[in-house]
Amino acid sequence: MTRSRPSLPLAPPSPRLIQWVWRPDPRLWRVPGGSPILGRGVTATAVRILGIETSCDETAAAVVEDGRRILSDVVASQTDLHARYGGVVPELASRRHLECILPVVQEALSRAGLGLAGLDGVAVTYGPGLVGALLVGVSFAKGLAEARGLPLVGVNHLEAHIYANFLEDARAEGGGSADAGAAVPRPGGRDGGACFSSDAWPCVALVVSGGHADLVYVEGHGRLELLGRTRDDAAGEAFDKSARAMGLGYPGGPEVDRLAARGDASQVPLPRAFLEEGSLDFSFSGLKTAVLVYLDRCRRRGREPPLADLCAGLQQAVVDVLVEKAFAAARARRVRRILLAGGVAANRGLRAAFGQRARREGVEVFIPPARLCTDNAAMVACAGYYRLERGVRAEASLDAVADLGLGSDPYHRLEG
Ligand code: KG4
Ligand code: ZN
Repeated sequence: MTRSRPSLPLAPPSPRLIQWVWRPDPRLWRVPGGSPILGRGVTATAVRILGIETSCDETAAAVVEDGRRILSDVVASQTDLHARYGGVVPELASRRHLECILPVVQEALSRAGLGLAGLDGVAVTYGPGLVGALLVGVSFAKGLAEARGLPLVGVNHLEAHIYANFLEDARAEGGGSADAGAAVPRPGGRDGGACFSSDAWPCVALVVSGGHADLVYVEGHGRLELLGRTRDDAAGEAFDKSARAMGLGYPGGPEVDRLAARGDASQVPLPRAFLEEGSLDFSFSGLKTAVLVYLDRCRRRGREPPLADLCAGLQQAVVDVLVEKAFAAARARRVRRILLAGGVAANRGLRAAFGQRARREGVEVFIPPARLCTDNAAMVACAGYYRLERGVRAEASLDAVADLGLGSDPYHRLEG
């Protein structure tokens, strides 16, 4: 497995690949029957799916074999572009995706040691996300699939985050050692580093990212039920906005994580919103406001805010609520497995807290390695593989859906 974050701007796309993608030579097209055709029960030969992700500020492409093995995983991050604005600027994001998509796909194929002829299908994120950004990936994937006669499937970005738990690469790095040394624990799974598999459903999944804090009951592939969601800010948003007020870099989550490691949470007690009895919803805007009020009070008293302690207090407040609600959801649905997903699942405090609680309650907690928690295309290829295997295919009208809900599946049909 190789993963790279090419420094931008990337090299101009190879004219050879442009020709392949946009003006394919019919002689290079797939020979019918010459490669495995995805469908129900077809598992005899290795199936390689190209995943494409452009929902926000990462242009990513990856090739995953049999929904499990990562052959390549390339992410071109736009953090440099948006940092000065303190958040993602949608128009700039779309333009950067346009520049990067071709070289990133080209790099993913080359690192996988494959040409386009080695692919068996294309999976692309088609929502939720920034519509202009999504459109770049969707249009590219449609063009490529059409030109090569490959099956195409659209993937829900949040569902893809959940599928990061299936990636075998995670197992190879069991214990999280390859994430950032032992500092990023990966406590979950049956043997302390296992990846999830289809025979382990049902489970509860907690998806925590920059735009979402969702608790989902997953009965099986494609059978998802939303149990709770945030009523205001997402977990990552609480980190990012609070970090911004503290004058930390963008995105704020990793900065809060870094500073919290040397702070004392008990020095800055902050509120936790558990909402009504039995509710599995979240609310983080009050916490963000409490951070702003605390900073303001420090400044009015002419005192430097103790940032490490404040970050530790903020992280602890977010983690306490996420742990409590996720285990409550597992109890309510009588399941013994919890999957963590999304960028915030990279947080070391969160990973450690889930690990401790899992051991105490005898529940299995699965967490992808930190770098597969944040946006990537391997998770998209993986989720796409299981959709294609069930016979789900994108219609020719496939379009970006900015507010695509979990469980909603427009622009797709079942085949076979
Ligand atoms: O899943 P993701 O990469 O993109 C979205 O789908 O939104 O999640 C990004 C979010 C950001 O809010 C970022 O600050 C947060 O994940 N994040 C973290 C950490 N790494 C990323 N939050 C806390 N601790 C981290 N180590
Ligand atoms: Zn994401």
